Amino acid sequence: MCGIVGYVGPKDAASFILPGLRRLEYRGYDSAGIATLGDGVLHVRKTTGKIADLEALLASDPLDGRVGIGHTRWATHGRPSDANAHPHVDCQSRTAVVHNGIIENYREVRKVLAAEGHRFRSQTDTEVIAHLLERREADGLVAALLGAARDLQGAFALACIAPSAPNTLVAVRRGNSPLVVGFGDGEMFLASDVPALLGKTRDVLVLGDGELAALTADGISLFTLDGEPVQRSSRVVDWDGEAAEKSGYPHFMLKEIFEQPEALQNTIRDRVDAETPDVRIPELGLRDRDLAGLNRLCFVACGTSWHAALVGKYFVEAFARLPVEVDIASEFRYRKPVLDGRVLTVPISQSGETADTLAALREAKDQGSRAVAICNVVGSSLAREADGVIYTRAGIEIGVASTKAFTAQLAAVALLALKLGLARGFAEPALVRQVIKGLAELPDLLAVVLRQSDTIRKIAERFAHHAHFLYLGRGLNFPLALEGALKLKEISYVHAEGYAAGEMKHGPIALIDSRMPVVVIAPRGAAYGKITSNLEEIRARDGIVIAIATEGDDAIGAAADVVIPVPPSLEWLQPLLVALPLQLFAYHMAALRGCDVDQPRNLAKSVTVE
Ligand code: AGP
Repeated sequence: MCGIVGYVGPKDAASFILPGLRRLEYRGYDSAGIATLGDGVLHVRKTTGKIADLEALLASDPLDGRVGIGHTRWATHGRPSDANAHPHVDCQSRTAVVHNGIIENYREVRKVLAAEGHRFRSQTDTEVIAHLLERREADGLVAALLGAARDLQGAFALACIAPSAPNTLVAVRRGNSPLVVGFGDGEMFLASDVPALLGKTRDVLVLGDGELAALTADGISLFTLDGEPVQRSSRVVDWDGEAAEKSGYPHFMLKEIFEQPEALQNTIRDRVDAETPDVRIPELGLRDRDLAGLNRLCFVACGTSWHAALVGKYFVEAFARLPVEVDIASEFRYRKPVLDGRVLTVPISQSGETADTLAALREAKDQGSRAVAICNVVGSSLAREADGVIYTRAGIEIGVASTKAFTAQLAAVALLALKLGLARGFAEPALVRQVIKGLAELPDLLAVVLRQSDTIRKIAERFAHHAHFLYLGRGLNFPLALEGALKLKEISYVHAEGYAAGEMKHGPIALIDSRMPVVVIAPRGAAYGKITSNLEEIRARDGIVIAIATEGDDAIGAAADVVIPVPPSLEWLQPLLVALPLQLFAYHMAALRGCDVDQPRNLAKSVTVE
């Protein structure tokens, strides 16, 4: 969603803000802008289009100033246009505001302000904030913003600057939209997300819900929305500047696909012991006694994270014999779920800021459920609000299409399932040992699959002109069929549907003809016989089969049009392996079709509005 970047210090503000905005491009946006304070006057430059367009504008009309705010806008109220781009200013250009979120009562507020004589230049909900601040200018910027926040309904993260407070940047957060303050040496930074700060500082403070921060070059003053001072210290993030660079890869997505062996190693590091056998997750926040007393587990998640949850159901039911429900987070609250203290709710989210997943967590907690989040971003809202957390440790993920965070989520749900199984006394030590050993061996096997990237690009060349794809899988690989189809459609805009292979005869088989490629996930295992029958049924109807099969499976080699081999592995862990060819195929299809791989149209990395 919208991205915010701010700076206050001795240097040129725009030279931090512009690259900062570029590092937030992954959030998705349609326009961008910057405001600075130079010589006691507000200067604003904004435009529709990409950061490159803003950069061109700044080259022809530079911005001076040591205090500034910048924004990438993802349109909600008012179409993408120069006028609707942020920052927004009041009638006399006395305050500039950037905003992420939705002001729910903006129509009423705008009516009142217009009646008072305020002149509006945009159709956005954000502009009312600038005029509310103008109305309270005499109070000083901090008090004016606290007052304005009281007048506003809805969720927001916003930042503002004003000539009346020439050395200050003020930011406030209410609701889901994240804001991170970065501590520099004699300078302070602000951003919607940590990547914008990398290379400048790793010393950060995540603004809490209902907090206001006043930043000067020397530091921060933190308040509640009632104006009460808050004392909280910063923490150091372990992501470095290079994590936010492409490091020679053409796209972040490809880089992140290739980072999966390392990400997986990090997910399991220090957490497993094959000998005992044991799984250690101290940050779980629940004792073995609590885990043993559970009678149900509910996964809630969106998109790719929901697919990880679907695989998690197989793990938890098999290893821990605990009944599992899996909900799309946006549906969870609307089906009146039955929860209590013996239910463990497990929200899964890369960002930890997905609005629906957070809302589902809050609903579960309101009903007395315990909650353990599986999450990639340290200190995110989800991680803070849950009783415990399993960090996936995949490292920063910038590509909008989730890849390494997904396989790390699969590893994390496997760890959780083993932990539950051991605590509840249902997990056979031999099986636990096998899974732990299998996880430890996986990074090498993933590296084998990655070496096929060029071959998979050639396969994609053959199929790049196809408009429809079907993905089929059974058992543990059914969620992978859903994930393969999602990856393809979100980045290459090619229609794809994922199905449980057994469902094929109940409808989708009607789609199959000589123009329909079907990706069949068919590694050796319990479902192998059944899925190869499905494969034959597709062939009998002239469908084109792209099979993902176990290395050396000659029978599949003879039956399919194309085979992508994966090395043999423990059957439980196959989803982590087959994810890679699915990701690589989608990536190469999108790249060949000339799509914007890292920032697909209409999509945002974290969906922070419901
Ligand atoms: C993944 O490729 C998607 N872009 C998307 O479905 C994503 O998984 C979903 O929005 C959930 O995000 P989260 O994991 O940050 O909660």
